[in-house]
Amino acid sequence: MKFQATPNHYTGLIDRYRSRLPLSADTLAISLGEGNTPLIRLSNLVKTTGKNVDIYVKYEGLNPTGSFKDRGMTMAVTKAVEAGSKAIICASTGNTSAAAAAYAARAGIKAFVLIPEGKIAMGKLAQAMMYGAITMQIRGNFDDGMQLVKDVAAKTNVTIVNSINPYRLQGQKTASFEIIEELGRAPDYHALPVGNAGNITAHWIGYTESAIQSGEHTTNACSFCEGSCQFTGEPIIAKDSRPKMLGFQADGSAPFMRGAPVKDPETIATAIRIGNPQSWSQAHEVMKESGGWFGELPDSEILNTQLLLASLEGVFCEPASAASVAGVLRDVKSGKIPEGSTIVCTLTGNGLKDPDTAMELSKDAVRLTIDATLDQVNQSILNHL
Ligand code: F0G
Repeated sequence: MKFQATPNHYTGLIDRYRSRLPLSADTLAISLGEGNTPLIRLSNLVKTTGKNVDIYVKYEGLNPTGSFKDRGMTMAVTKAVEAGSKAIICASTGNTSAAAAAYAARAGIKAFVLIPEGKIAMGKLAQAMMYGAITMQIRGNFDDGMQLVKDVAAKTNVTIVNSINPYRLQGQKTASFEIIEELGRAPDYHALPVGNAGNITAHWIGYTESAIQSGEHTTNACSFCEGSCQFTGEPIIAKDSRPKMLGFQADGSAPFMRGAPVKDPETIATAIRIGNPQSWSQAHEVMKESGGWFGELPDSEILNTQLLLASLEGVFCEPASAASVAGVLRDVKSGKIPEGSTIVCTLTGNGLKDPDTAMELSKDAVRLTIDATLDQVNQSILNHL
């Protein structure tokens, strides 16, 4: 007899949220059990602000390939396979290529990935290669790769799985569903690191769909008379529980702060080293609708926050991810985010992906080389108690 798992066996976000995704009941899910990631309430790091706020981190680094991209990739690859596609392609700063490669392996199709040579974290390159993608290291940056992918997909029979593929955002919106389920409501603020701005757009879709589903009034019509009055002033929104969305970039790679694409973006947070975001207008729409804002941080502050998250909270994220927390800590300290707020920061990727940056950042950590004797171990303990 075939073994049957119990209904408690978590089988990924497609099975969990199928009715809220553009899928039919019998579409076969290509899944690695993505989603259902921890929402961790920060403790020690919040105390450093001296303010009374609640900060949670949504630890997306615990997805199967170590980043939030898996939420989008399960949808993109599921739909590609359903449509009969035999190959997918993406440009990537590393995480998308890892996720594309893994889900293609799972589906038994080919993945072609374009990455900027020498500018992706080692763990991500190892992933693409282990999962068996055809890896093209380009002498150019992510934006060059993205243009090439669009050009080639226009003529060749390969499915683009960058976030311009609408199914990617559909999968990624489920992170908002999970947060609302766990908190019992949406947070007041939600902060994310921004590159292409696909993820911040996806979260906003998720919050908006949840608000509509719960019967909240979120349109611009007068909520009291359904349009029969002569109301001409500001739109009345009877109740809107959606968060203000905050998008943080590295200052050397901050097109949203400059108000225009940046030609040669540079940052140690290679995941968000993007000068020409694909979801430019959507991200501006998100800010307008939510009342949120973009911000920028120097690499030094991003790295310092990455280290503090690990050393004060036990949460190891990759550099780009720490931008969300760095921005929030700054805006809480300055009072821009008021006391009493509940804030969620997305930690988009796992710290293990970028061991080179982590080793450099923690070089002052205590690391002793001693003889394998009881005496030397004892002495080391006594010296540090
Ligand atoms: N954080 C991490 C760790 C990322 O890998 C990315 C994007 C982002 C944040 C920004 O998300 O683009 O939706 O605004 N990485 C893409 C990649 C570009 O190729 O892996 P976004």
